[in-house]
Amino acid sequence: MSTKSIGIFDSGVGGTSIWKEVHALLPNEHTIYLADSHNAPYGPKGKERITELSIKNVELLIAKDCKLIVVACNTATTNAIKYLRENYKVPFIGIEPAIKPAALKTQTKAIGILATKGTLASDLFHETTDLYSNGINIIEQEGEGIVQLIENGKLHSDEMKGLLDIYLKPMLEANIDYLVLGCTHYTYLLPILIDMLPNHIKIIDSGEAVALQTKTVLEKHQLLNTQNTKSKNQFFTNGNTEVMASLLGNNFKVEYLKF
Ligand code: DGL
Repeated sequence: MSTKSIGIFDSGVGGTSIWKEVHALLPNEHTIYLADSHNAPYGPKGKERITELSIKNVELLIAKDCKLIVVACNTATTNAIKYLRENYKVPFIGIEPAIKPAALKTQTKAIGILATKGTLASDLFHETTDLYSNGINIIEQEGEGIVQLIENGKLHSDEMKGLLDIYLKPMLEANIDYLVLGCTHYTYLLPILIDMLPNHIKIIDSGEAVALQTKTVLEKHQLLNTQNTKSKNQFFTNGNTEVMASLLGNNFKVEYLKF
Protein backbone atom coordinates (compact mmCIF):
# COMPACT_ATOMS: atom_id res chain seq x y z
CA MET A 1 0.00 0.00 0.00
CA SER A 2 1.28 3.48 -0.83
CA THR A 3 -0.17 6.96 -0.39
CA LYS A 4 2.35 8.47 -2.81
CA SER A 5 1.06 10.14 -5.99
CA ILE A 6 0.61 8.76 -9.47
CA GLY A 7 2.60 10.96 -11.87
CA ILE A 8 1.14 11.70 -15.30
CA PHE A 9 2.76 13.67 -18.10
CA ASP A 10 2.01 14.72 -21.65
CA SER A 11 3.46 17.15 -24.18
CA GLY A 12 0.58 19.37 -23.11
CA VAL A 13 -3.06 19.41 -22.12
CA GLY A 14 -4.17 16.28 -24.03
CA GLY A 15 -3.18 13.84 -21.30
CA THR A 16 -5.81 15.38 -19.04
CA SER A 17 -8.19 13.09 -20.98
CA ILE A 18 -6.21 10.19 -19.52
CA TRP A 19 -6.06 11.79 -16.09
CA LYS A 20 -9.90 11.91 -16.12
CA GLU A 21 -10.08 8.16 -16.77
CA VAL A 22 -7.50 7.37 -14.09
CA HIS A 23 -9.23 9.63 -11.57
CA ALA A 24 -12.65 8.13 -12.37
CA LEU A 25 -11.37 4.58 -11.80
CA LEU A 26 -9.08 5.34 -8.85
CA PRO A 27 -10.69 8.34 -7.15
CA ASN A 28 -8.73 8.16 -3.91
CA GLU A 29 -5.30 8.09 -5.59
CA HIS A 30 -3.31 11.33 -5.33
CA THR A 31 -2.08 12.55 -8.71
CA ILE A 32 0.45 15.00 -10.12
CA TYR A 33 -0.02 16.03 -13.76
CA LEU A 34 2.66 17.74 -15.85
CA ALA A 35 1.80 19.47 -19.14
CA ASP A 36 4.94 20.29 -21.09
CA SER A 37 2.96 22.73 -23.25
CA HIS A 38 5.97 25.00 -23.68
CA ASN A 39 7.55 22.24 -25.80
CA ALA A 40 4.34 21.05 -27.53
CA PRO A 41 3.89 19.65 -30.04
CA TYR A 42 6.20 16.66 -29.60
CA GLY A 43 4.87 15.06 -32.81
CA PRO A 44 7.21 16.73 -35.33
CA LYS A 45 10.30 16.31 -33.11
CA GLY A 46 12.64 13.38 -33.63
CA LYS A 47 12.95 10.35 -31.35
CA GLU A 48 16.04 11.73 -29.60
CA ARG A 49 14.43 15.05 -28.65
CA ILE A 50 11.16 13.35 -27.61
CA THR A 51 13.21 11.06 -25.35
CA GLU A 52 15.12 14.02 -23.85
CA LEU A 53 11.88 15.84 -23.07
CA SER A 54 10.34 12.67 -21.60
CA ILE A 55 13.38 12.21 -19.34
CA LYS A 56 13.00 15.81 -18.09
CA ASN A 57 9.34 15.18 -17.23
CA VAL A 58 10.04 11.83 -15.58
CA GLU A 59 12.84 13.25 -13.42
CA LEU A 60 10.55 15.99 -12.16
CA LEU A 61 7.82 13.47 -11.28
CA ILE A 62 10.37 11.24 -9.55
CA ALA A 63 11.65 14.30 -7.62
CA LYS A 64 8.04 14.78 -6.52
CA ASP A 65 8.13 11.21 -5.20
CA CYS A 66 5.65 9.60 -7.60
CA LYS A 67 5.13 5.86 -7.20
CA LEU A 68 4.15 5.15 -10.82
CA ILE A 69 4.27 7.23 -14.00
CA VAL A 70 1.63 7.31 -16.72
CA VAL A 71 3.07 8.49 -20.02
CA ALA A 72 -0.19 10.06 -21.19
CA CYS A 73 1.18 10.75 -24.65
CA ASN A 74 1.23 8.34 -27.59
CA THR A 75 4.19 10.17 -29.11
CA ALA A 76 6.32 9.93 -25.95
CA THR A 77 5.26 6.31 -25.37
CA THR A 78 6.03 5.07 -28.87
CA ASN A 79 9.39 6.88 -28.96
CA ALA A 80 10.69 6.83 -25.40
CA ILE A 81 9.03 4.31 -23.09
CA LYS A 82 11.55 1.57 -23.82
CA TYR A 83 14.37 3.90 -22.73
CA LEU A 84 12.43 5.05 -19.67
CA ARG A 85 11.68 1.48 -18.54
CA GLU A 86 15.33 0.51 -18.96
CA ASN A 87 16.65 3.48 -17.02
CA TYR A 88 14.24 4.16 -14.15
CA LYS A 89 12.94 1.83 -11.44
CA VAL A 90 9.47 3.35 -11.19
CA PRO A 91 6.76 1.42 -13.10
CA PHE A 92 5.54 3.09 -16.32
CA ILE A 93 2.18 2.86 -18.05
CA GLY A 94 2.15 3.96 -21.69
CA ILE A 95 -0.48 4.65 -24.31
CA GLU A 96 -0.50 3.50 -27.91
CA PRO A 97 -3.09 3.73 -30.69
CA ALA A 98 -5.67 0.95 -30.19
CA ILE A 99 -5.12 -0.72 -33.56
CA LYS A 100 -5.79 -4.25 -32.32
CA PRO A 101 -9.49 -3.91 -31.35
CA ALA A 102 -10.23 -1.93 -34.51
CA ALA A 103 -8.44 -4.47 -36.74
CA LEU A 104 -10.22 -7.38 -35.06
CA LYS A 105 -13.70 -5.85 -35.29
CA THR A 106 -13.74 -4.12 -38.67
CA GLN A 107 -16.35 -5.40 -41.11
CA THR A 108 -15.32 -3.20 -44.03
CA LYS A 109 -11.69 -4.29 -43.63
CA ALA A 110 -10.62 -0.67 -43.52
CA ILE A 111 -9.65 1.32 -40.43
CA GLY A 112 -8.37 4.84 -39.98
CA ILE A 113 -5.64 5.98 -37.58
CA LEU A 114 -5.26 9.63 -36.71
CA ALA A 115 -1.99 10.24 -34.85
CA THR A 116 1.05 12.50 -34.73
CA LYS A 117 3.99 12.25 -37.10
CA GLY A 118 6.20 10.99 -34.26
CA THR A 119 3.81 8.16 -33.42
CA LEU A 120 3.25 7.09 -37.03
CA ALA A 121 7.01 7.07 -37.65
CA SER A 122 7.91 5.05 -34.54
CA ASP A 123 9.17 1.45 -34.54
CA LEU A 124 6.59 0.50 -31.91
CA PHE A 125 3.75 1.71 -34.14
CA HIS A 126 5.15 -0.21 -37.14
CA GLU A 127 5.50 -3.37 -35.08
CA THR A 128 1.83 -3.18 -34.05
CA THR A 129 0.51 -2.36 -37.53
CA ASP A 130 2.57 -5.22 -39.00
CA LEU A 131 0.88 -7.59 -36.56
CA TYR A 132 -2.68 -6.56 -37.45
CA SER A 133 -2.56 -5.31 -41.03
CA ASN A 134 -3.08 -8.69 -42.69
CA GLY A 135 -6.00 -8.23 -45.11
CA ILE A 136 -6.87 -4.86 -43.60
CA ASN A 137 -6.46 -1.49 -45.22
CA ILE A 138 -5.00 0.83 -42.55
CA ILE A 139 -5.32 4.49 -43.48
CA GLU A 140 -2.70 6.38 -41.47
CA GLN A 141 -3.22 10.11 -41.20
CA GLU A 142 -0.99 12.63 -39.46
CA GLY A 143 -3.09 15.16 -37.56
CA GLU A 144 -0.75 18.04 -38.30
CA GLY A 145 -1.82 21.23 -36.53
CA ILE A 146 -4.50 19.71 -34.31
CA VAL A 147 -2.40 19.65 -31.12
CA GLN A 148 -1.39 23.30 -31.62
CA LEU A 149 -5.02 24.40 -32.05
CA ILE A 150 -6.04 22.61 -28.83
CA GLU A 151 -3.03 24.05 -26.97
CA ASN A 152 -4.09 27.51 -28.16
CA GLY A 153 -7.64 27.11 -26.91
CA LYS A 154 -9.06 26.66 -30.44
CA LEU A 155 -10.68 23.25 -30.01
CA HIS A 156 -14.03 24.49 -31.24
CA SER A 157 -12.95 26.55 -34.24
CA ASP A 158 -13.53 26.67 -37.98
CA GLU A 159 -9.81 26.00 -38.44
CA MET A 160 -10.21 22.72 -36.56
CA LYS A 161 -13.21 21.67 -38.64
CA GLY A 162 -11.28 22.55 -41.80
CA LEU A 163 -8.34 20.35 -40.79
CA LEU A 164 -10.59 17.45 -39.82
CA ASP A 165 -12.42 17.67 -43.15
CA ILE A 166 -9.12 17.22 -44.95
CA TYR A 167 -7.86 14.43 -42.67
CA LEU A 168 -11.07 12.40 -42.67
CA LYS A 169 -11.63 12.53 -46.43
CA PRO A 170 -9.24 9.69 -47.43
CA MET A 171 -10.64 7.56 -44.60
CA LEU A 172 -14.22 8.07 -45.73
CA GLU A 173 -13.19 7.32 -49.32
CA ALA A 174 -11.63 4.05 -48.12
CA ASN A 175 -14.90 3.14 -46.36
CA ILE A 176 -13.48 2.78 -42.85
CA ASP A 177 -15.80 1.60 -40.08
CA TYR A 178 -13.36 2.27 -37.21
CA LEU A 179 -11.40 5.41 -36.48
CA VAL A 180 -8.58 5.03 -33.94
CA LEU A 181 -7.55 8.17 -32.09
CA GLY A 182 -3.80 7.88 -31.59
CA CYS A 183 -3.11 11.04 -29.60
CA THR A 184 -4.43 11.96 -26.18
CA HIS A 185 -5.29 15.48 -27.34
CA TYR A 186 -7.67 14.01 -29.93
CA THR A 187 -10.03 12.61 -27.28
CA TYR A 188 -11.27 16.19 -26.92
CA LEU A 189 -12.33 16.05 -30.59
CA LEU A 190 -14.87 13.31 -29.87
CA PRO A 191 -18.05 15.47 -29.93
CA ILE A 192 -16.86 17.19 -33.13
CA LEU A 193 -15.96 13.89 -34.81
CA ILE A 194 -19.27 12.28 -33.85
CA ASP A 195 -20.97 15.23 -35.51
CA MET A 196 -18.87 14.99 -38.66
CA LEU A 197 -18.76 11.22 -39.22
CA PRO A 198 -21.53 8.90 -40.45
CA ASN A 199 -23.16 6.96 -37.60
CA HIS A 200 -21.74 3.57 -38.54
CA ILE A 201 -18.13 4.67 -37.94
CA LYS A 202 -17.01 3.84 -34.44
CA ILE A 203 -14.31 5.86 -32.71
CA ILE A 204 -11.82 4.15 -30.41
CA ASP A 205 -9.36 5.66 -28.00
CA SER A 206 -7.25 4.02 -25.34
CA GLY A 207 -8.04 6.11 -22.25
CA GLU A 208 -10.09 3.57 -20.34
CA ALA A 209 -7.61 0.78 -21.09
CA VAL A 210 -4.80 2.94 -19.69
CA ALA A 211 -6.71 3.51 -16.46
CA LEU A 212 -7.40 -0.23 -16.08
CA GLN A 213 -3.75 -1.03 -16.73
CA THR A 214 -2.72 1.58 -14.14
CA LYS A 215 -4.89 -0.16 -11.56
CA THR A 216 -3.53 -3.61 -12.48
CA VAL A 217 0.09 -2.47 -12.19
CA LEU A 218 -0.51 -0.66 -8.88
CA GLU A 219 -2.08 -3.86 -7.53
CA LYS A 220 0.76 -5.99 -8.82
CA HIS A 221 3.36 -3.80 -7.08
CA GLN A 222 1.18 -3.43 -3.98
CA LEU A 223 1.11 0.31 -4.49
CA LEU A 224 -2.64 0.98 -4.41
CA ASN A 225 -3.77 3.63 -1.97
CA THR A 226 -6.26 1.74 0.14
CA GLN A 227 -6.96 4.68 2.46
CA ASN A 228 -10.44 6.04 1.95
CA THR A 229 -9.50 9.72 1.95
CA LYS A 230 -10.18 12.49 -0.55
CA SER A 231 -7.46 12.63 -3.16
CA LYS A 232 -5.12 15.55 -3.78
CA ASN A 233 -4.78 16.32 -7.51
CA GLN A 234 -2.11 18.75 -8.62
CA PHE A 235 -1.85 20.14 -12.15
CA PHE A 236 1.26 21.88 -13.41
CA THR A 237 1.87 23.44 -16.82
CA ASN A 238 4.73 25.43 -18.30
CA GLY A 239 2.19 26.90 -20.74
CA ASN A 240 -1.27 28.45 -20.57
CA THR A 241 -3.04 27.66 -17.27
CA GLU A 242 -6.45 28.81 -18.54
CA VAL A 243 -6.61 26.46 -21.53
CA MET A 244 -5.78 23.55 -19.26
CA ALA A 245 -8.28 24.60 -16.58
CA SER A 246 -11.03 24.89 -19.19
CA LEU A 247 -10.40 21.31 -20.41
CA LEU A 248 -10.42 20.06 -16.83
CA GLY A 249 -13.77 21.72 -16.27
CA ASN A 250 -12.53 24.58 -14.09
CA ASN A 251 -13.00 22.60 -10.87
CA PHE A 252 -9.28 22.15 -10.45
CA LYS A 253 -6.52 24.62 -9.85
CA VAL A 254 -3.81 24.66 -12.52
CA GLU A 255 -0.44 26.04 -11.49
CA TYR A 256 2.25 27.51 -13.71
CA LEU A 257 5.62 25.84 -13.22
CA LYS A 258 8.79 26.41 -15.17
CA PHE A 259 10.34 23.07 -16.13
N1 DGL B 1 -0.86 14.11 -26.61
C1 DGL B 1 0.25 13.78 -27.44
C2 DGL B 1 0.09 12.37 -28.00
O1 DGL B 1 -0.67 11.60 -27.42
C3 DGL B 1 0.46 14.87 -28.46
C4 DGL B 1 1.79 14.84 -29.09
C5 DGL B 1 2.28 16.15 -29.58
O2 DGL B 1 2.55 17.01 -28.75
O3 DGL B 1 2.45 16.27 -30.80
O4 DGL B 1 0.69 11.97 -28.94
